[in-house]
Amino acid sequence: MFKVGLLGLGTVGTGAVKILQDRLGRNPLLAEIEIAKVGVRDLAKARQVELAAGVLTQDLDSIVADPEICIVVELLGGLEPARSLILEAIAHGKHIVTANKAVIARYGPEIYEAANQAGVYVLLEAAVGGGIPIIKPLKQSLGANRIASIVGIVNGTTNYILTQMTQAGAEFADVLADAQRLGYAEADPGADIDGLDAADKIAILASLGFGGRVKREDVYCEGVRGVSAVDIAYAERLGFTVKLLAIASGQQGDLSESLQLRVHPTLLPKEHPLASINGVNNGILVSGDPLGEVMFSGPGAGAGPTASAVVSDILNIVGILSSSDENPALDPLLSCVHQHYCQITPIEELQTRFYARFLCRDLPGVIGHLGTCFGDHRVSLESIVQIGFQNETAEIVVVTHQVREGNFRAALAEIQKLEGIKAIASVLRVLSSQEV
Ligand SMILES: NC(=O)c1ccc[n+]([C@@H]2O[C@H](COP(=O)([O-])OP(=O)(O)OC[C@H]3O[C@@H](n4cnc5c(N)ncnc54)[C@H](OP(=O)(O)O)[C@@H]3O)[C@@H](O)[C@H]2O)c1
Repeated sequence: MFKVGLLGLGTVGTGAVKILQDRLGRNPLLAEIEIAKVGVRDLAKARQVELAAGVLTQDLDSIVADPEICIVVELLGGLEPARSLILEAIAHGKHIVTANKAVIARYGPEIYEAANQAGVYVLLEAAVGGGIPIIKPLKQSLGANRIASIVGIVNGTTNYILTQMTQAGAEFADVLADAQRLGYAEADPGADIDGLDAADKIAILASLGFGGRVKREDVYCEGVRGVSAVDIAYAERLGFTVKLLAIASGQQGDLSESLQLRVHPTLLPKEHPLASINGVNNGILVSGDPLGEVMFSGPGAGAGPTASAVVSDILNIVGILSSSDENPALDPLLSCVHQHYCQITPIEELQTRFYARFLCRDLPGVIGHLGTCFGDHRVSLESIVQIGFQNETAEIVVVTHQVREGNFRAALAEIQKLEGIKAIASVLRVLSSQEV
């Protein structure tokens, strides 16, 4: 029997216990797994699963130190005590399964170094894309490829909000309130809507896809608070849909060339494979040589899908432990052995297309002045359209060709000073065909 200790019995922990207790028709190795202890904060809380007497405990240290437990499954969330308990469990020689992207994105190098020294695995399939298998494919099934880009919709809450705004023409604040009522958004939604959760996830995916460590703070990050129903409607008319994309692109193996790493709302051509990923679903498009493009999509969160990934990781470790000797060497395709940090391109150097909406005074020559400012900074325009005129304000929407972001920003700084410009209402990036 392989004894497992769970830290946390919330949404995902409960889902995992349900799978572990309902083995019929699933992998026969599940019969080899025993839930030895489950750590929680509040023993008096009603639970949706039944556990044997004495299994539930508030003493999480006793779980990570228990000599009989061989796998510790961290499903607490947050940075502490999750990080310390993971490190303590590793020090006691336990293998780790975790769904905690926040901890791995920030403390991955420290955790993997400790794990490699202790000869244990740290598996995290549930940390990105919930139930979608993406971690193991990047580590193993796509291992023969030179990865060129990973582009994902990896946050279900923001995808739900943008989908509702697109389909119902509703404003961001109204849809967010609805999402909170339906349980699709947290009471404190900052990590989702400010793009921080997506940034954690792309840091993890980039590290796996491009074979180097990634500093979480190197991920450029813009959330969806500034996306308005008006911009979504204009984008629709121009043939785009708006999605919060997490993007890592570069050339694997070429350490002199650096990675682009960013999260921001993006205008995506409607025919792009990710444009049809709607609601709380996630989608991740990986491009590699020689494979070409491969798309992973499905439920990116929720008790069942996330627990599916957690229990598969437990099974992976149990499979290895049950078929090998006392102290087997770590499988390099399942462990993490990166030493160097990836170089990251500053956002100013990004080459991309932009959409911008300007509120203008009714003065002659405004469009001409805009064009001149852009031209002076070598920003070439694909289209410039005056869309409406209301209360003495004209709306001008501009879409650029592929330009250097630094040049575009310099042009905007000058445009802001023009007499004819009341406000730069929004600036969004447009995914170019060269970027995927
Ligand atoms: N929910 C999802 O759909 C989803 C999807 C992908 C990844 N994840 C990740 O999975 C992890 C767990 O998420 P979740 O939604 O299951 O969280 P959750 O519902 O809030 O559950 C957290 C559990 O951990 C326990 N806990 C938290 N802090 C503790 C502490 N200091 N001491 C003792 N126990 C503590 C809680 O105990 P009590 O029950 O006593 O309060 C609860 O059982 C997170 O890292 C999250 O990012 C979640």
